[in-house]
Amino acid sequence: MEKTLLGIIGSPRKQGNCEVFVKAVFRRLRGPWQLRLMRLPELDIRPCRACYACLFEPMKCVQDDDFNMALQAFVEADAWVVAAPAYLLGANSSLKRFLDRGLSFYAHVDRLWGKPAAGVAVAGIEGKEGYTKLSVESFIRLALGDLRASAVIYGALPGEVLLGENAADTAAQMAAALESPDERHMPGSPSCPVCGGDTFRFLGGGRVRCMLCSSAGDYEVTGGEICFRTAADDHPLFLTLDAVRRHAQWLRAMKERYLFQRRELRAVVREYSGIGTWVHSEKGQ
Ligand SMILES: Cc1cc2nc3c(=O)[nH]c(=O)nc-3n(C[C@H](O)[C@H](O)[C@H](O)COP(=O)(O)O)c2cc1C
Repeated sequence: MEKTLLGIIGSPRKQGNCEVFVKAVFRRLRGPWQLRLMRLPELDIRPCRACYACLFEPMKCVQDDDFNMALQAFVEADAWVVAAPAYLLGANSSLKRFLDRGLSFYAHVDRLWGKPAAGVAVAGIEGKEGYTKLSVESFIRLALGDLRASAVIYGALPGEVLLGENAADTAAQMAAALESPDERHMPGSPSCPVCGGDTFRFLGGGRVRCMLCSSAGDYEVTGGEICFRTAADDHPLFLTLDAVRRHAQWLRAMKERYLFQRRELRAVVREYSGIGTWVHSEKGQ
């Protein structure tokens, strides 16, 4: 039966590098697949209002925009490829705008969990991708996908990524990884043994934290090679299906905690009310 690959394009540029790369991955799939495309910057996805309504009945965001429709496309697809351009050293903000609404994912855990996914960061200048790849990986893992491949590719002009051989190889590896978990293609660089992430914060005292899965640990340098020894803590966000469910429960329990501490919290913030003047929108929204 034909499967659906959802191509999530984080670029506003039509026929740009993100779009053509996603199509290049699709063309290299062997089985019967159809490609559905979603250009995130052109969707009406508004900021999360932090109302937490999506965590409780009816388990759905109450805002009337494109988010619920877009989430449905994620749920219905058999696999995802996410491509985002580096904008000012990070992924285009359309990814984060979507992700910020992600407490809604917890209503669809069973259908989202483990969806095969690959992510690519496209940067115009070699070495100037900043944290774009981390943003894309984080997007996939928090959306509960099974991150099977991720990479940075370079190209500035629309379509330029496909001029280099590197992108064709990467597209082929991603296609293979989407069709088989045994073909996983994660960076060969030193990585987090817990999640495969390769971006770390050095905490001092020989400690590090993986910026993808938040696991902390230490590291060792032998023969000029660094080796990270991180371990999952007792509140992982997405490492196992059980951890996802526990985190959702933890979030839901915040309501009780808030109701319990409400008076105390209000007393604290009241002391700060009325301080400062606000810059308001002049657009009459
Ligand atoms: C506003 C803006 C900011 C950018 N910032 C970066 C950057 O920080 N680093 C980089 O390597 N390229 C940067 N670029 C270049 C794009 O990442 C590059 O052109 C990419 O191929 C765009 O992908 P697209 O064709 O899918 O839109 C920027 C482009 C724009 C429009």
